[in-house]
Amino acid sequence: MEADNDIQTTPRGFHCKLCDVNIPNKPSLGDHVKGKKHQHLSRLRAKRKSQEDSSVFVSGFTPETSRTQLHDYFEQFGPVAEVIMDKEKGVYAIVEFSEASGTHSALAQLEHRLQGLKLRVKPREKKEFKLTSGARHNPKKPHVSLGKLNHELCQAATVNEQMQKVVETFQLSEGDRKARELLVQLLQEVFGEFLPDCQITPFGSSVNTFGVHACDLDLVLDLENTKAFQSRARTSEQAGEERSEDGRSEDSILSDIDLATATAAELLDLVAAILRKCVPGVHKVQCVSTARLPLVKFNYRPLTLQGDITINNRLAVRNTRFLQLCSALDSRVRPLVYTVRLWAKQKQLAGNPFGGGPLLNNYALTLLVVFYLQSVEPPVLPTVEQLKAMACEEEVCIIDGWDCTFPSQPFGVPPSANADDLCTLLFGFFRFYSKFDFPASVVNLREARALPIGDFRSGDEEMHNAPEGGASKHRPGHAGPKLGPVNVLDPFELQHNVAGNLSERTHRSLRHELGEAEKYCRSLQFQRKSAKGKSWGLVRLLAPRGEPGTAGRDASYRPPEICIPFRTSEAHGRPSQDDEACRAVWFSRLCSAVELVFRDVLKCTAVEGTAWQEPCKTQDVGTVEEAVEEPSAEGSSSLCKAHAGVKRPLTADEGPSSSSSPQGKRQRLEPLAGHPESAHWSWVQTQQVWAGRRKVRRDLVKTSDEASQPEGGSSSLESRVTQRIAEKQADPRDLVEFSVDATVVAGSESTKAVLKFIPTNDVSGHFQDFFHFLESFLPKMVETKMAKLQ
Ligand code: UTP
Repeated sequence: MEADNDIQTTPRGFHCKLCDVNIPNKPSLGDHVKGKKHQHLSRLRAKRKSQEDSSVFVSGFTPETSRTQLHDYFEQFGPVAEVIMDKEKGVYAIVEFSEASGTHSALAQLEHRLQGLKLRVKPREKKEFKLTSGARHNPKKPHVSLGKLNHELCQAATVNEQMQKVVETFQLSEGDRKARELLVQLLQEVFGEFLPDCQITPFGSSVNTFGVHACDLDLVLDLENTKAFQSRARTSEQAGEERSEDGRSEDSILSDIDLATATAAELLDLVAAILRKCVPGVHKVQCVSTARLPLVKFNYRPLTLQGDITINNRLAVRNTRFLQLCSALDSRVRPLVYTVRLWAKQKQLAGNPFGGGPLLNNYALTLLVVFYLQSVEPPVLPTVEQLKAMACEEEVCIIDGWDCTFPSQPFGVPPSANADDLCTLLFGFFRFYSKFDFPASVVNLREARALPIGDFRSGDEEMHNAPEGGASKHRPGHAGPKLGPVNVLDPFELQHNVAGNLSERTHRSLRHELGEAEKYCRSLQFQRKSAKGKSWGLVRLLAPRGEPGTAGRDASYRPPEICIPFRTSEAHGRPSQDDEACRAVWFSRLCSAVELVFRDVLKCTAVEGTAWQEPCKTQDVGTVEEAVEEPSAEGSSSLCKAHAGVKRPLTADEGPSSSSSPQGKRQRLEPLAGHPESAHWSWVQTQQVWAGRRKVRRDLVKTSDEASQPEGGSSSLESRVTQRIAEKQADPRDLVEFSVDATVVAGSESTKAVLKFIPTNDVSGHFQDFFHFLESFLPKMVETKMAKLQ
C-alpha cells in the first residue's frame, strides 16, 4: 500500500516521506495519517498519477501546429481532456485523455502522422511525487548559514575569491530556477484559459541574475493582447457570429469584465479570483491596491514561495532585461552586486522583509552599483544613453512614452578598458558613496551623472530648460520624481525615484555604514588573509550590524550566553563532580538534549551540515588569543570545535566564559583539561515560537486531559505548543538565523555548560526576543529532556 510506503520507522519514531515530517509515536502516527495534510497530499498524488497515466508526450510537430489540431488528431484514440503546449510552442505537448484507455490506444499505434509530419508519441515521464516544501526542507534550497559561509570565506586566498564564493553560495540553484519556470508555465496555462492571449512574464530577482534562494517571484500579467482579443470577440458577437475569427469564444470570466474600461481594482480582483480558484497550491491571495503599482500577492505552497503579480507592468520587464544586460557585459557585475546586496542586508539597509518600508529596495541598490560602475575611470559599464546609441533600429523600445532602447545582446557593446579586480572595485564602491552627497544629488544612470537636486525642485518651466539627461527628460504634464534623502532616478521611467521610500533614519545609517565599510576596506585586515586563521576580508565587512566581527565594532562585545549547571544526577550515576569522564558524559547528554529542544520542541531547522555529533575530545586547549578575542567567529561552521594551536592552557581569568559574578568579577572557570569538549550548531527559526506561548500552553492544557505542567516540564506539550503557534502564524520565513557554541567549563565553585548565541542573520530584528525567551525556557527544557535520556 502506498500509505505504508510513505512511513519509515526511525530510531525516534516514524517519518512520513510524503509530508516530510517526523512523528514521535504510534498514536500520533494514526492522527497524522488521518490528518488534513497527509490526506490532501495523498489525494493530490493520486490525481497526478491518474493524470500521468492518461497522458502522452508528443513531439515532432512544428511551431505552426495549433493546440486544436493536436486535440482533433488525438480524439481518434479517445476523448481528449487537455492539450498543454510547451512555452515555445513547437517543441512538445502533453495530450491528456479523459481516460487511460486513450493513452493505451495512442501508444499502441505504431506511426502517427499529422499534416505530413511524423509525430513522436511516448508515454509521459513518471515523476516521483515529492513534497517540495521549499526553503526548510528542499535539498535544492539549502539554508545559507553565514557561520558556515564565514568559515569558507576565511579559507579563501583573496577577497576576489571571497566575492565569487558569495555568488556561489547565494545564487539561485538550477533546481530553483527550473521550479520557478514550471510555476510560471502553470500560471500561464491557467490564466491563458480565462484570459486568452495573456502573457505571464517573470521579472526581478528570479530572472535578473541577482536572485538568491527563496527570493520572491515577481510576475507581470500582460493583458494587452487579451484586450484586443476581447474587442475582436465583441465585434464578432455584435455581427451575430457565435465565435470570433480564430474560433475561440469569450470565456465566462472574461465576459464579466470589459478590459478596455476596467479599473485596476477590478483587474486585481479578477487575478485574485483565478489564483484562488484555479491554481492548485496557491494560498494567501491578497490584493494590494495601495502600492505604487497595485499587485496581487500569493503564496505557492509546494515551493514555499511568495509571488507578486502586477498588471501590464512592461517597464519592470524591460528594466529587468537591462540588469541582465549589465550582468552579461562584465563578469565583475554579479560578484559586486551580490556582495553589496549582502552587505546592505546585514547592515539592515536594504531588503524590506515584507515589501514596502523605509529601507532601500534591492532594485535601487543594484542601480547604485551600476551607477558606480559607470562612474569609475575607465568605466566598467556604459551609460544608458551610450547603450541606446549602440542599439539597432529593431531594438528601439518605447514603453508608456519612456525610451527603453538598448542592445538586446552584449556582444554589440565594446568590452570595458577597466582592469580593476573585484577587491578594488568593492573598496571603490564604498569610497565613492561614502563621499557622495546624497541629499543634494539625483543619481542618473542615463549619463552617469549626479544631477543637482535643484533642477528637480524648480517648477515645470525650469524643468524643460534643464540640461540634457536631467529633468528635461520628464514627460510633459507629469510631476517630477518624489524627492527624499536619497534620489536614484529609474533609468527609463525618469519621473520615478526608486529610493523615494527611504527614511531619513535609513539614510543616516547608510552614510554611517558606508563610512565604516570604507575605513575597514583601507585596513590590512580587509586586504590580507590572516595567517592565524582570524576573520579577514569580507567576513568582518559582512557581519550583521552591531554583532561580533563588525568592522569597527565595540571590542567589549560578548555574545549572549546561557549557562546550564552540572548535575551529577544527570551524569548517568557517575560518582562525583571531580570525575572528568563523568562531566564528559554529562556534557555529551546535554548536547543531545539541546539539539532535541531546538529541533523537535522549537522546530528550528538545522542549517545543512551543522548538526551536532559526538563531541570531539582533544588534549589541546585554546590559546588565549583565540578564546578571548574571537570567541565565536572562526571555525564556527565546524561541527565540533577542537581547540588547536595550543600555547598554554587557559587560566581561570581567561576562560571562555565571560559571565560575571554578582560582584562584577569573573568566576574562576577553566575548560576541563582532559576534555575540552565543545559543540556547534547553526539553526534557523522560522516562527515566533515565543509569542503568546503561555496562553497557547494554557489553552492546550485546558482542552486536553493532560495535567498542567510548568513551562519546560513536558516536551510533548511544548512541541504541541510550538506547533499550535506555527499554525496560527504566517507562513514560515527565515526570522532569525543563529549559531550556538557550547563548551563545558569547570571552576572551583561550579561546573557548567556555557551556550553562546550568535545571531548570524537577524534582519527582521527578532533575535533579542527569541534569546530572552530562551534564557528561561532552555535550561528547564534541557533538564526535562536529559531526565528522559537517562
Ligand atoms: P526588488 O527591489 O524586489 O528587486 O524589485 P529584486 O532584484 O527582485 O530583489 P528581491 O530579492 O526581490 O528583493 C523587483 C523588480 O521590480 C522592479 C524591477 O524590475 C526590479 O527588478 N522595480 C522595483 C521597479 O521597476 N521599480 C522600483 O522602484 C522597484
